[in-house]
Amino acid sequence: MSSTSSTKFDLLISGGEVLLRQSSGQWTLEKQDIGIKAGRIEAVGSLGGQPAAKTFQAKGLQVLPGLIDTQVHFREPGLEHKEDLASGTRAALLGGITGVFEMPNTKPPTATALDLADKMGRAHNRCWTNYAFYVGASADNISKLASLEQLPGCCGIKIFMGSSTGTLLVADDHHLRQVLQQGRRRIAVHCEDDQRLTERAALVKNSPGSVHLHPEWRDVETALRATQRIVKLSQETKRPLHILHVTTGEELALLKNHKDLCTVECTPQHLTLTAPECYEKLGTFAQMNPPIRDRRHQEALWQAVASGVVDVLGSDHAPHTIEEKRQTYPLSPAGMPGVQTILPVMLNHVHQGRLSLGRVVELLATNPARIWGLDGYGEIRPGGLANLTVIDQRRQVEITNDWIASKCKWTPFAGMKVTGWPTATIINGFVAMRDGEILGSPAGQPLNLSI
Ligand code: DOR
Repeated sequence: MSSTSSTKFDLLISGGEVLLRQSSGQWTLEKQDIGIKAGRIEAVGSLGGQPAAKTFQAKGLQVLPGLIDTQVHFREPGLEHKEDLASGTRAALLGGITGVFEMPNTKPPTATALDLADKMGRAHNRCWTNYAFYVGASADNISKLASLEQLPGCCGIKIFMGSSTGTLLVADDHHLRQVLQQGRRRIAVHCEDDQRLTERAALVKNSPGSVHLHPEWRDVETALRATQRIVKLSQETKRPLHILHVTTGEELALLKNHKDLCTVECTPQHLTLTAPECYEKLGTFAQMNPPIRDRRHQEALWQAVASGVVDVLGSDHAPHTIEEKRQTYPLSPAGMPGVQTILPVMLNHVHQGRLSLGRVVELLATNPARIWGLDGYGEIRPGGLANLTVIDQRRQVEITNDWIASKCKWTPFAGMKVTGWPTATIINGFVAMRDGEILGSPAGQPLNLSI
């Protein structure tokens, strides 16, 4: 590939190892330059002699397609003491993330056209990465969902089948069926069976402080029942689903037979932390929904990453303040930050040989682009959007709370020494982060789905 135009580039990324996808589907790192103009990749090749307004020396660095985190909670409006759209997207930028799908369990929840317009207004000129917003399904907005999911900046409908942070909930099959019958886009689902959660809540209420009971309360059966129910409704209605943060081997065994309708997400937390050790070490800071489980489930997740049952990695970035997390379990809120650490943690898994760099890029760029029709994303090629993640695969860094830009100022991965680090994040043709420094002003734009 080479440039056919002699026009000056706005930006030349020079001498990096560019991760390219071959027609065979294989990924290769090739020493190439990338010429960028007007927010798009104009050329990939040996472009050294060609004029450019700015040059980014990428020698020794790896240049990846722009990564997207398709599950973050940025808390605005209503819970800005935990996070807001500016602080959340700064954290994303520092972590090498170029775009986010933000969740609707804000205060108020994002459930109407007005709520979505409000979020879009707040995001304008304040987001450091590109963005789209989920609309939350509830019994009150069912008849509006088909039009809501098509609004600009909306990445789809989200269902909470089990109560988690916030008030959004669609728990019974009657309402779930109605939600699935409205509209056509893939629906994202948090699968925990609310009835079982309620029935078992005494287990933790009667044992204050026993956070290690979290995966027992919200047990395998709780997750599996919900996933079974929603898969059945998906088959009945032919509505495609995106099953968020799958945590059990049992659900994966089911989902592998339903890939025609269901895409599957897992999180770096569930691939990296294990029970019971995480609860001993981190206490309520390891508490999230669905919970971190034992090694058997983690192994099943890794197998599903390897076999292709898992399509997408999402961080489920869910910040709560240190004071909130320090409350006695089960008063402590569930959730942990992750948008800034998703890439370093996964690069460390690459370093340790658990998966390839190409697979990480599939899970964080190529598959999200395909599943949600994000044109111009997913791989580096002329004509694509100039959203790029530049990493140093060899750099060794210890993750610290000091590095965390989220308002919550902590990470469950503090103290972890990783090999592989985000060096720069390029947003719509601009170098927005380089060597941990945020540059310029927020350049994030709405992500628009073409399907
Ligand atoms: O642990 C979680 N925290 N799981 C969720 O589903 C919601 C999230 C949050 O928003 O805090």
